[in-house]
Amino acid sequence: MNAFDALVATTRDTLNRIASDFTPAVFASSLAAEDMVLTDMILRAGLPIGVFSLETGRLHRETLGVLDRIRETYGYEVRLYKPEQAAVDAYVRGHGLNAFYDSVDMRKECCRIRKVEPLKRALAGNKAWVTGQRRAQSTTRATLQVQENDEAHGMVKFNPLADWSEQDVWHYIRSNDVPYNPLHDKGYPSIGCEPCTRAIQPGEDIRAGRWWWENPDTKECGLHVVDGKLVRIKSVA
Ligand code: ADX
Ligand code: SF4
Repeated sequence: MNAFDALVATTRDTLNRIASDFTPAVFASSLAAEDMVLTDMILRAGLPIGVFSLETGRLHRETLGVLDRIRETYGYEVRLYKPEQAAVDAYVRGHGLNAFYDSVDMRKECCRIRKVEPLKRALAGNKAWVTGQRRAQSTTRATLQVQENDEAHGMVKFNPLADWSEQDVWHYIRSNDVPYNPLHDKGYPSIGCEPCTRAIQPGEDIRAGRWWWENPDTKECGLHVVDGKLVRIKSVA
């Protein structure tokens, strides 16, 4: 067995273990490449792990199109969690639709309303949740473990792709014909909300297009909390 096949086998083992020992469990999909690898593994094996997405109301139409690709390919309807309309309305009325460009606090408040609160609802009642985070994605993820204790949400959190490289992700997608967000072919290695994501130049960090106007040490949306605290990105250079 080559190294890639061994990586895939280990990841399948992790998913099987979640399905047998940690249900009810759910998988949070941002519909980006990593998450399509896990979606493919979970749905093809028919594992009892529900796939959901936080539909922030600000996603690219290409990202929303991935929901259709999943339905066509796997016959599966991803469960969508949307922000509370009243909270969105109050934010927009008080600060403006795109106030996240004005300050880090305004950006975090938008992420809180559109992602963090809906995530709480999506996770409620589960024993474990699964993410597509990889260690190599950023300095905040350098110590990421496949299995973690998520104290903030009071459950176990699995990052089955922790050891995967970006190349591994694409090798899996190409060799298994997995559908993916077409923005990945247009310079977007990392995809979040439309107004907060831009394409990167060759040689730039893979997350350079996320909240690009902020300092690296504030770039956290609040979905991923370690040891009860938000992990800060160490200032680079
Ligand atoms: S973020 O924290 O900067 O937004 P990133 O885009 O790298 O995170 O995604 C990391 C993981 O967080 C994804 O693999 C997925 O598990 C989860 N995630 C991020 N955005 C969403 C979303 N909109 N819906 C569901 N899960 C998400
Ligand atoms: Fe709001 Fe941008 Fe956060 Fe999306 S990424 S929730 S638009 S601040």
